Amino acid sequence: MNESPIFDGLTRRRFVQAAAAAGATFAIPGAFARDRAALVGAADELAVAVIGPGSQGINLVNNCLKIPGIRFTAIADIWSYSQRRCSGLLKKYDQPVTVYEDYRDLLDKEKNVDAVIIATPDWVHAEQANDCLRAGKHVYCEKEMSNTLDGARSMVRTARETGKLLQIGHQRRSNPRYWHALKLIEKDQVLGRITHFTGQWNRPKQYEVGWPKKYTIDAAVLKRYGYGSMEQFRNWRWYRTYSGGPLADLGSHQIDVFNWFLKTRPAAVMASGGLDYYNGQDGRDWYDNVMAIYEYPGANGPVRGSYQVLNTTSHGGFFETFMGDQGSMTVSEDPRKGHFFREIHAKKRDWEAESKTVEMMDREAFELKIGETLAPDGSKSAEGQRLLAESKKPVHQLHLENFFNAVRNGTPLSCPPEVGYETAVSVLKANDAVANGCRIEFTPKDFEV
Ligand SMILES: NC(=O)c1ccc[n+]([C@@H]2O[C@H](COP(=O)([O-])OP(=O)(O)OC[C@H]3O[C@@H](n4cnc5c(N)ncnc54)[C@H](O)[C@@H]3O)[C@@H](O)[C@H]2O)c1
Repeated sequence: MNESPIFDGLTRRRFVQAAAAAGATFAIPGAFARDRAALVGAADELAVAVIGPGSQGINLVNNCLKIPGIRFTAIADIWSYSQRRCSGLLKKYDQPVTVYEDYRDLLDKEKNVDAVIIATPDWVHAEQANDCLRAGKHVYCEKEMSNTLDGARSMVRTARETGKLLQIGHQRRSNPRYWHALKLIEKDQVLGRITHFTGQWNRPKQYEVGWPKKYTIDAAVLKRYGYGSMEQFRNWRWYRTYSGGPLADLGSHQIDVFNWFLKTRPAAVMASGGLDYYNGQDGRDWYDNVMAIYEYPGANGPVRGSYQVLNTTSHGGFFETFMGDQGSMTVSEDPRKGHFFREIHAKKRDWEAESKTVEMMDREAFELKIGETLAPDGSKSAEGQRLLAESKKPVHQLHLENFFNAVRNGTPLSCPPEVGYETAVSVLKANDAVANGCRIEFTPKDFEV
C-alpha cells in the first residue's frame, strides 16, 4: 500500500513540470531517484485540502503550517463560521483556498489535490474518506475512524482497493515519548511480566457547546446534512447518531495504546456506564461515565486492565499505566506525566542515577526522560537523541509528518487503517457490553476485514 511517489500521478506531474522548466532531459523513473534532492521545494510540494476545519481541523491546519512543502488549496465545511475562520487563517499564511460547502464539489473540482485531511464528526468519516480515496487522494482521517464497525471496515477495504494511503488520527502512535516507553518495556524489560494495566480520561463537567447566533445554519441546510438542530450539530459527541460516545471519543486513543503496547487484541470486555449526571438536561443520549474491564491474552499469561472516562471530574486527568512484576510505568500525552516505579527487588538501571525522582503515592518514581538511557559503552544512544529532538515538536505535527513522509517517500504509516480498525473493534464492542450489561468475548473473526 505504501507506494512510491513516482507512481502518484500528481506528484509525478509536478515533478515533470519542474524538471521541464529546469531544462532537464531525462526519463522517469530512473532519474527520479537520482534527482530526488532537486525535488525538495516547489516541485515536491503537496497540495492539501481539509474537510471539516472545526476545532480539531484548525489545530491540524496550524500544525501543517509548520511542515515544509505543504500547501492548502481548498477547504470544505458546511458551516460558514468554520469556512471563514480557516480560509482567513490560511490567507494570512499566503495560502488562499477555494472554499466549498459540500466536500463532493471539492472532489469534483480540485483535481490537483494530493491529500485530504478529514476532521468532521465521526459519523461522516467513512463516507468522506471512501469518496476521497476513490477520487485518488491520500487521506489523513481523524479518529474515531467511524462510529460504526461497518463504516470502519469499509474504509480499510477502500484503502486496500485504491492503494491510497489512509492514516487514522491516533497521534500517540507517532509520539516519541510513547516510543521511548515502549523501548524500555520491550527491549529493557523494565516491567518484567506485565500482568495488569489501567487508564483513564477524567475531565471536568462539560458544558453545552454554543455558537455565535449570527452563524446559525438554516434548518433546511442542517437537515440536508443530517443534523436535527444547531444544538445537535455543535454537540454531536453526545449523540449516538453522530458519535461512538466517550469510549470512542477519548478512550479510543488509550485503548489503542493498550493494544499497541501489549502487541495483541483484547480477548474479552465487560463494562458499565450511564447517563447519570446530564440525564434529561439537554437531550444528550450517550452515557456520561463508563468503566470497562478488558482481558488480554498477554505474551506470558493473561493481562487484565481497567479503563474509565468520567465527564464530571478531572481527577487524575488522562494517562495509561502498565504494571508488571518488576515495575510499573505511567505514560500520557500530557508531557507532565511519565514515570517509572521499580519494584524493590528488581534490577537497578544505569540511567536511574541521572534521572529525576519524584514522590508519587508514597513511593519514589523516576521521571521518564527520552534520551537518558545509555548505550552499552556508556554513550548516549543515537536513537534516544533522535527521539529527544523529535519530542520537541507538537504531537499532531509528528503524526501529520509521518503521513506526509509516507505520501512522499513510501515510508510506513504509524496508524494505518488496519490498526485503526482493531481499535474501533476494541472500543465499539465495549459499547455493546455497556448496552447489554454483559461480558463480551472477542473472536478472531471480529477483527477480520
Ligand atoms: N486526535 C485528536 O487529538 C482529536 C482531538 C479532538 C477531536 N478529534 C476528532 O476530530 C474530529 C472533529 O472534532 P472537533 O472537536 O473538531 O468537532 P467540531 O464540531 O469542532 O468540528 C467539526 C467541523 O466539521 C464540520 N462539519 C460537520 N459535518 C460536516 C459535513 N457533513 N461536511 C463537512 N463539514 C462538516 C463542522 O461545521 C465543523 O467545522 C472528530 O472526529 C474528533 O473525534 C481528534
